[in-house]
Amino acid sequence: MTPPTAAAAAQSDFARRAAGFAPSFWGEIEALVGRHPDMVFFGGGSPARELMPVDRLRAASVQAWADAPAALDYGEVAGYRPLRELVAARMAGQGMAVEPDGLLVTNGSQQGIDLVCRLMLDPGDAILVESPTFLGALQTFAAYEATLLPVPMDEDGLRIDALERALAGSSRPPKLLYTIPTFQNPTGVTLSRSRREALLGLARDRGLLVVEDDPYGELRYDGETVPPLRALDPEVVYLGTFSKTIAPGLRVGWIAAPTRLISPLHSAKEGADIHNERITARTVFHAADGFLDGHLATARGVYRSRRDALLAALGERMPPGVRWSEPEGGFFVWVTLPAGMDAAALLPAAAERGVTYLPGAWFYPTAPQANTLRLNFSTLPEDRIGEGVRRLGEVIAGG
Ligand SMILES: Cc1ncc(COP(=O)(O)O)c(C=O)c1O
Repeated sequence: MTPPTAAAAAQSDFARRAAGFAPSFWGEIEALVGRHPDMVFFGGGSPARELMPVDRLRAASVQAWADAPAALDYGEVAGYRPLRELVAARMAGQGMAVEPDGLLVTNGSQQGIDLVCRLMLDPGDAILVESPTFLGALQTFAAYEATLLPVPMDEDGLRIDALERALAGSSRPPKLLYTIPTFQNPTGVTLSRSRREALLGLARDRGLLVVEDDPYGELRYDGETVPPLRALDPEVVYLGTFSKTIAPGLRVGWIAAPTRLISPLHSAKEGADIHNERITARTVFHAADGFLDGHLATARGVYRSRRDALLAALGERMPPGVRWSEPEGGFFVWVTLPAGMDAAALLPAAAERGVTYLPGAWFYPTAPQANTLRLNFSTLPEDRIGEGVRRLGEVIAGG
């Protein structure tokens, strides 16, 4: 399969940056998913559909429409104020002190990544990223023609010794560090408390802007809570979203940023899409208000059980030499096959057998490790997880 990091077939009249655009990998995955009538699809990244609070959202949207026609006009570049107040209160509950005026509502955290890049990056600017990291962020970084400085990870998250080396080895000081410290996508790994402090110390010393992307922080199933980076340092830019806690189709996320960045981020947002959809912002507010904590308690129970089913099935079915992460939260388990195996090359055979996943190589900023793959457990009931891993075990054993 073609990795999405391959340059798109740029045409001569396209901007130079288009050479870094990846072909849409979903098209390739969809074609594979169609190959089996009973496919187990481990490629997802959404909350379980059966947990999406459809009735609650429907009722909330009726409340939202009560503000029409005023809410149908232009307005609220920063986002619906009651929603920002709700977000500020939720962040306070996680140890992050932020004022509603320090928040900007975005079209998902993907737009948060885009707006930060829009504000901070000139073509060629260096940024530090975990290796591997979130594929969608890599797509945005490519669009801004960033030079990526990969920082390898281990089971405690981004390696501080490697971060120090990357900082020392960079001819131009990097503009920012993009990190997903909690239940990382794709690895599921969480940055330890001591490394969080070391990372922030280094960032302070070097004047490095830290961008913390935290879609999964509220989805912890066991283990001890680790404070978000933003709770330890108010200079951190924090990206949040309702995509994993309510539903991604709503496209509602937010940026919390230091005061000096807020007004320029508003301008960046205006230039991108003027402001968020105002009825949806109200809908999310009315749906989340007085509901989200209970909803998350239910969701955590469901996801814990699915995570456990996936880990147990891997323990039973994986051939010797296969390793995997054991996440305490989030949506993903990261699998490392024996050296020399290629998860992308195995994918067509896996699809024939009725199982698909995302090849890990797609998530590397540079030097992809072909023997890795990402498994999602949030979207599949336990019996499907068991069946999918059984099929996967056969494919790996045969590969
Ligand atoms: C780390 C990370 N950041 C951002 C996003 C995008 O989320 P949103 O739907 O809020 O744009 C995702 C979605 O998978 C993600 O895993």
